[in-house]
Amino acid sequence: MDESVRTNQAVWDQAATKYVDEYDELLEQARGEWELFPRELELLGPVLSAAPTVVHFQSGHGLDDTALVRAGARTVLGIDYSVVTAAAAQRRAVEVGAPCRYVAAEVPAVPVRDACVDLVYTGKGAVIWMRDIDAWARDAARVLRPGGSLFVYEAHPAVPLWTWDEDEPRIRADRSYFAESHVNDSFPGNGAREWQWTLGQLVTAVTRAGLRLDVLEEYAEPFWRPDDGSEAAAWSGRLPNAYALLAHK
Ligand SMILES: C[S@@+](CC[C@H](N)C(=O)[O-])C[C@H]1O[C@@H](n2cnc3c(N)ncnc32)[C@H](O)[C@@H]1O
Repeated sequence: MDESVRTNQAVWDQAATKYVDEYDELLEQARGEWELFPRELELLGPVLSAAPTVVHFQSGHGLDDTALVRAGARTVLGIDYSVVTAAAAQRRAVEVGAPCRYVAAEVPAVPVRDACVDLVYTGKGAVIWMRDIDAWARDAARVLRPGGSLFVYEAHPAVPLWTWDEDEPRIRADRSYFAESHVNDSFPGNGAREWQWTLGQLVTAVTRAGLRLDVLEEYAEPFWRPDDGSEAAAWSGRLPNAYALLAHK
């Protein structure tokens, strides 16, 4: 494992205690109220209607996995390199009775056979932790069966530039859209190194890996807002904050 990836893993294992501390709350959400975003359900509708087998790269707390099952997935395999995270997600899935299994492993090079998966699902704070975007795309393409889909719902690569000012949007003086990486300075990934992949680099990696692009949409609404109700002006509708990508093999 790359040294910076190892450092990030330690940060995530520490951050994952949140998923253990909030176990009961997350369990309640897994039982019912947690859903995929409406646009995800629309874009994934045809895929989910065929009862796909899903691999979730960087599955985190796993709430999207029980939501995927409720939306039609036959099974979900979550891959996350945090042992603490994977164990908490597994315990929750068992309690909820969802056909989700979790493996603590690194992405890319996931422990999944070639060409056996209908859908690779990922995002919501995942792609920024990939050290090598081409290796990530190749691994997704490798595990997909012919006709299988890759779906990403993720923070827009311009997001690291926005300040959290509430009066008007501003660009951080210490960030560049074209920088290779920066150190995360907000919870829960505080201290970890985030890699920056432009939309161009992302799409190029996906198509180079042999996948055909079906959808690339950009959204003003971020995929996540803090619980304290703060409202950055950068989220008011004028700037890109998220994107969805759907591709197939
Ligand atoms: C911000 S969380 C988001 C995960 C998920 N989308 C969610 O909403 O819970 C990022 C996750 O990626 C995992 N992660 C980061 N880099 C990884 C890697 N190289 N291999 C496997 N997991 C990784 C972390 O352990 C963490 O659980």
